[in-house]
Parts: sequence; structure tokens; C-alpha cells
Amino acid sequence: MDTDWDHNSWYHRLLVRQMPLGARRVLDVGCGGGALARELSQRVDRVDAVDRDPQMVALARRGALGNLTVIEGDALTVDLPAGGYDAVLSLSSLHHLPLLPALERMAGWLRPSGVLAAVALPRTDLPSMSRWSSRP
Ligand SMILES: C[S@@+](CC[C@H](N)C(=O)[O-])C[C@H]1O[C@@H](n2cnc3c(N)ncnc32)[C@H](O)[C@@H]1O
Repeated sequence: MDTDWDHNSWYHRLLVRQMPLGARRVLDVGCGGGALARELSQRVDRVDAVDRDPQMVALARRGALGNLTVIEGDALTVDLPAGGYDAVLSLSSLHHLPLLPALERMAGWLRPSGVLAAVALPRTDLPSMSRWSSRP
């Protein structure tokens, strides 16, 4: 049976729903090819999206609306405005990053009462998640 189901796209709606009412400026961390960032840019005034992979950044910039800025950079070091975002979102990227430093940085980019929402994949190198491992 053919299906156009896609794991990451399936979660777009869930993440979009986490944005606070009236959100105007949103950040997508680890944006990959930019599908979520483009969707967000149709809903809020301004979207910034960051990814460390130049090829992903080039993809994400393709067809982006004028209110979407795609930044090539590492989430652990990139310079973004502290307290600058109503929501910081991340889809299937956190498992690439050291969790606590990444979450601290993401929280620092939120305005007071802003929302941090992430869909995270299991990290099999963490003991608490080892039961998710596909290894026998
Ligand atoms: C599995 S992809 C998910 C991409 C996108 N969020 C999606 O839903 O399709 C993970 C992305 O995180 C990016 N990434 C990994 N480590 C990163 C880091 N330290 N800083 C920024 N981006 C990072 C990768 O380049 C990759 O594009």
C-alpha cells in the first residue's frame, strides 16, 4: 500500500498548536530542509530557523517567504536574541545535541512566559532511554 506519511511532517500540527496565542516571532532549532519553518512562516510575523548543515540551510531557504530567515549555525554557539521569541520549537533534532546545554540555550531565547516545545527522538546513549534501543 502506498502512503505519503512522513514522521516529521506528522508532528507539524502538534508543534504549531503549542505556540502561544498571538505569537509573533518563533524560532525553529535544527530546521533541516525547512518544512516546519515554512509552515510557521505562514502563521506568524517572523520566523528564524537555524541549522548547522549548509546543504539543509540551502534547502530551507528555497521558496522561503520574506519573513523566514534561515541561519547557518550551531545551536550551541549561534548568536540569537536572548528573550527574543514567543516560541522556540524543535522537531527531531534534539537527539543530535547535548540535551541540557541545548535546552538551556533554547530557554534563554524565550521571552518570559514563552513556550519551548520539542518533538524529540530517543537517544540510545542515555541509560534512561536504552529500552528504546533497536539493538538486541
Ligand atoms: C533529523 S533532522 C530534522 C530536521 C527538521 N527539523 C525536520 O523535521 O525535518 C536533524 C537536523 O538537526 C540539525 N542539527 C544537528 N545538530 C545541530 C546543531 N548542533 N545545531 C543546529 N542544527 C543541528 C541537522 O543538521 C539536521 O538538519
